[in-house]
Amino acid sequence: MATLSELYKNRFGLDREFSAETEEKFTSGAAGILNRRSHRRYTDEPVSDELLDAMLACAQSAPAKSDLQQYSIIVITDPKSREAIGGWEGEAPVFMLFCADMNRIQKLAKHRGHDHQNNNVDTFMNGVVDAALAMQSFMNAAESVGLGCCPISQVRNRLPMFREMCDIPDGVFPIAGLCVGWPSTQGWISMRIPPAAVVHRDKYDDSNIEADIDAYDARRHEIYQIAPEKQRHVDIYGALDFCGWSENVTRQLSLPERAEFKAYLQAHGYKLD
Ligand SMILES: Cc1cc2nc3c(=O)[nH]c(=O)nc-3n(C[C@H](O)[C@H](O)[C@H](O)COP(=O)(O)O)c2cc1C
Repeated sequence: MATLSELYKNRFGLDREFSAETEEKFTSGAAGILNRRSHRRYTDEPVSDELLDAMLACAQSAPAKSDLQQYSIIVITDPKSREAIGGWEGEAPVFMLFCADMNRIQKLAKHRGHDHQNNNVDTFMNGVVDAALAMQSFMNAAESVGLGCCPISQVRNRLPMFREMCDIPDGVFPIAGLCVGWPSTQGWISMRIPPAAVVHRDKYDDSNIEADIDAYDARRHEIYQIAPEKQRHVDIYGALDFCGWSENVTRQLSLPERAEFKAYLQAHGYKLD
């Protein structure tokens, strides 16, 4: 098995030595997390319902804000629905929606004869966080048994379709889809921005961010070049021989994305006050 130092180098492109004690403490579970990657190609081997149920139990073991458990998971199995999803996502052995869910507690409030006075942006965020943590717990468990996963935010481009397809009520919306299957390829490690850019000690300090990210862009380019067809908005900004991560992500966000999302939520139960 690879050492912590080797896995760290793969993740960040940076050299770092760890003491024997830390190397020893670094369990295979943690090593699996450091070595993880999204998988988008799967074998034809199905994922059994029983194994899926076990993974879903792991999803539900995630922490949840105030134990409110404001999320739902929809496993989409109907072949017609899978066809409507289309693309490689529709063909993945398992396709699920992880949803923020305010509906369940609103219904239970009625059942118990209480008002629900929290249709606000805090509840929106709590549901999103709960759903995201459940999805991550699912992925950790699934990846630990050799399954591959890929979250799919593309579902938020087609919210009305999923709403109709899955009878999703007001107060519920998918934060992401999740494809799951037995990987048919090894996949690759996507190098992360350095811990110096993300982890702060006591005070937030981004005084060196431009230099840190310039160096990261160069390190990453040595391992993986962003091909012209993967570069964002080439029609506006042109194709580059060296298109670093920061160039590509800032190109992406230079135009508004999902501008209609807020209106969709407001039309379907969320006040976002
Ligand atoms: C919320 C979320 C939504 C994502 N949506 C998509 C998607 O729609 N299509 C896709 O191919 N990958 C999607 N991804 C996967 C990311 O592209 C991937 O995590 C990122 O490129 C880093 O690669 P890695 O997961 O292999 O480390 C999504 C990831 C997250 C967390």
